[in-house]
Amino acid sequence: MVNRFFERNLTSVRDLTRADFELLFNVTDKIISHHATYDVCRGKTLGCIFFEPSTRTRLSFESAMLHLGGNTIEISSILSSTQKGESLGDTIKIISLYSDILVLRHPLDGSSKFAAEMSTKPIINGGSGTEEHPTQTIQDLYTMKKEMKKIDGLKIAIVGDLKYGRTVYSLLYGLSNYDVTIYLISPESLKIRTDSIYEIKKKLQILESTRLDDHLDDLDVIYVTRIQKERFQDKEEYFKVKGSYTIDKNVVKKMKRKSIILHPLPRLDEIPHNVDRSIHAKYFKQAEYGKYTRAALLGLIINNGFVNDISS
Ligand code: NCD
Repeated sequence: MVNRFFERNLTSVRDLTRADFELLFNVTDKIISHHATYDVCRGKTLGCIFFEPSTRTRLSFESAMLHLGGNTIEISSILSSTQKGESLGDTIKIISLYSDILVLRHPLDGSSKFAAEMSTKPIINGGSGTEEHPTQTIQDLYTMKKEMKKIDGLKIAIVGDLKYGRTVYSLLYGLSNYDVTIYLISPESLKIRTDSIYEIKKKLQILESTRLDDHLDDLDVIYVTRIQKERFQDKEEYFKVKGSYTIDKNVVKKMKRKSIILHPLPRLDEIPHNVDRSIHAKYFKQAEYGKYTRAALLGLIINNGFVNDISS
């Protein structure tokens, strides 16, 4: 089998095909079902560069690398020479000397593409500004596939901050490989940036609305997002839209029996904690899958033979 991931960067979901997703899903299944530590990354180091807060992405990458027998190093923006004014380009060049693969999270759009030019080692985008978060999409699609047993045919609402939420853009790029219907639900001021989805709009059936309630009995997946407070220039604007959608028990009651709620997390007030025990709530499962989908990606990028190991 051909491993298209070997030694390549992953900066955008736009670079992934449906076959790439299917390969990642198959490898993830194998990693989960074997319950074993593969040694495919033995002796290899993942360099973690996080210039924005992260819990799930950073730790799931680290634990994925350990799961595959590799190790990790990380730079902290507080303790590193970026505090002395060292440029992002130099920082990337240096960490790539000490690592075999890098994951970067950075507040600037375009940061991971820039990093890929600077680095001598493969770069994975761990979140670039409001632009993209590709590895979140791999776990989001994997979760849909596992929990709904399919992706084609699903009716999927993406709810909340569609303007600033980078997971939204990567998710739409990923879903454009499938035959799905998308409901984009947001306050007027947080509508999708149409220029960013211009290319894929023709491939997807998209309906835009401000009201979630009107569509609940139609939806298979409700993908909830956090209002991205840190991206608002004017905090007054944030308070106007804060709490626009709350998926509380009353909403859950109106959902289709087999529908699911996803969220990239962290959640604030958009999903109350008493919804967590509902059969529809799959966001913690989604977070758990993140470790294994990232392990699949790391294994394929680092080790060309992984694709054969796993199919035997
Ligand atoms: C997301 C992000 O960083 O974009 N978090 C994550 O990685 N799971 C979503 C968010 O911060 O709201």
